[in-house]
Amino acid sequence: MKHFLSYHDVTDLNQLITSGIVAKRNPFGDQELGKNKTICLLFFNSSLRTRISTQKAAQNLGLNVIVMNVGQDGWGLEMEDGVIMNGNNAEHVKEAAAVIGSYCDLIGIRSFATLTDREKDYAEIVFQQFKKYAQVPIVNLESATRHPLQSLADCITIEEFKLKERPKVVLTWLPHFKPLPQAVANSFCEWMNHANVELVVTHPEGYDLSPEFVGNGQVIYDQDKALEGADFVYGKNWSSFNSYGQVLNTDPSWMITESKMALTDNGKFMHCLPLRRNMKVADEVLDGPRSLVIEQAANREWSAQAALREILINLE
Ligand code: CP
Repeated sequence: MKHFLSYHDVTDLNQLITSGIVAKRNPFGDQELGKNKTICLLFFNSSLRTRISTQKAAQNLGLNVIVMNVGQDGWGLEMEDGVIMNGNNAEHVKEAAAVIGSYCDLIGIRSFATLTDREKDYAEIVFQQFKKYAQVPIVNLESATRHPLQSLADCITIEEFKLKERPKVVLTWLPHFKPLPQAVANSFCEWMNHANVELVVTHPEGYDLSPEFVGNGQVIYDQDKALEGADFVYGKNWSSFNSYGQVLNTDPSWMITESKMALTDNGKFMHCLPLRRNMKVADEVLDGPRSLVIEQAANREWSAQAALREILINLE
């Protein structure tokens, strides 16, 4: 694996899941792989889990780690080619990416969707520019359209907790008053399409995700019907893809409660975090035995370790 930008960079999903589970049992078994190598983690947006778990995974692999909040710790970066740079951004990505690439062996980047221009967001300009100018492997720490380290952690969690060979996994939209990106939902669908699961996606009308991500997932607009017999319920809010970035609905009846979970086949609840309690998910679910949110977040360390390990092996 040269880069880790999306599922398309994965050659063998089962092998990658196994690699994460092996790392969990023996975190320091590949310390030599990263020795005398450096990863720079660039954050254009806030993070708790991604920042700490990726740093920890890199250290487990023997890597030196540099973490920067772009625009706070360093200069604001211009991404567009050919512009007159008379705005707030003092440095162009052409120079910045090339310079960071000269110091570091890998670069991790978090850069969210603007939710104002769908074409630009889905073109993933920040990642394309870094890939072009840094000339070192790029790791997606959540982009405008995808969050593959989260999706790999989700695959590891489902593998650990599934009681059936082919579980029913339901991605459900949750209510939220703010417009949030589609990245986690897109990515989850993309990865579930390649996992051995039955994928169902449920959301109010107007919240359809891009068909390229939903793939073979079955879309059901009735949440109660979708939840019937589910083994895993994956909650997430996202703003509209078609009415790009808009909040069309905040119907509180889409919140996940114990009565909603009672429709499932003793299903487990998953969410990538962070989440707003009692708006998206009720305390009774999060504090009860069905919730896997902490286990899922803990697996972010092992998904990051599996992905970084694969890239380091190919750097050898
Ligand atoms: N799930 C996730 O990516 O969490 P952070 O935004 O805190 O990194």
